[in-house]
Amino acid sequence: PTVNFSDDNSLVTATLPTGESITVLLYGATVISWKDSSSTEKLWLSSAAKLDGTKPVRGGIPLVFPVFGPPPADHAQTSSLPQHGFARTSRWEFLGKSTSESSGDQQTGDLSVKLDFGLSSAADGLDPKGKAAWPFKFNLIYSVTLNRRDLTTSLVVTNDDERAFDCQVLMHTYLKVKDITNVTISGLDSSSYVDKVDAASTKTQSGEIRIEGETDRVYTADGPLTVSEGGKTLFTVTRDNLSNVVVWNPWVEKAKDMGDFEPKDGYKEMLCVEPGSVGGWQTLEKGDAFEGAQTIALGA
Ligand code: BG6
Repeated sequence: PTVNFSDDNSLVTATLPTGESITVLLYGATVISWKDSSSTEKLWLSSAAKLDGTKPVRGGIPLVFPVFGPPPADHAQTSSLPQHGFARTSRWEFLGKSTSESSGDQQTGDLSVKLDFGLSSAADGLDPKGKAAWPFKFNLIYSVTLNRRDLTTSLVVTNDDERAFDCQVLMHTYLKVKDITNVTISGLDSSSYVDKVDAASTKTQSGEIRIEGETDRVYTADGPLTVSEGGKTLFTVTRDNLSNVVVWNPWVEKAKDMGDFEPKDGYKEMLCVEPGSVGGWQTLEKGDAFEGAQTIALGA
């Protein structure tokens, strides 16, 4: 695998010998591109996304930490944070790459590449708004691993403070689809969810999910999810230690409201499936760590 930096050092791209590639922006450690061997893009990225560090990236995989959504007023520790926290608005450090032969693929000699990124409370790149609003000592290691058939993103949060802190973690993945009206999500049948577009009421999923309007739901469920289009499985998402999944599509009106969402009918070509731990809080005592990961496989 080859790993290259852009001239201004803002982006790192890793490419497998078989052609698959990922591009990660150091701002937010945001994965902004994932291509298969035929150079077909798998993640949706707004054509108006800001990639210059002035705004969280609209598309790709922004990282949500230490709070999901608008900070809840009744949770003092996070109440001054910006929506979705500061991980996505901080400049991360590239810690290095490692390559390995994918397990189980010895015969074909498939290679994988892992890129590691770090952000700590002492980092120069930490968003000053985050530092002021969340005064804990912490360390984050984010690993992005590309195989021929899948992409894994994994976050380790360590509490380096004397005090305990509460946090939430979420990987805000924007998957690319051709036509949202043909998309179904399965694997959440019978799971409970909070419906953010219906006064945050708690409901139970029945059958597959179809997106037919603005959708913003926080599911609680384990097990694999599949995203299919026209009956063909596009993605299989598995999770480690992330027991929530947010399913989000802004649809017509919300897409209009977002200045950085382009083209305006781009909601037809995207679907956010966001593994996270956001239903309550992960409370980490001094020295404790939390690790969560998602793997997005192409096909079944
Ligand atoms: C989702 C939330 O995770 O992110 C939505 O559930 C929110 O409520 C969406 O609108 C986008 O958030 P942002 O801050 O990137 O505009």
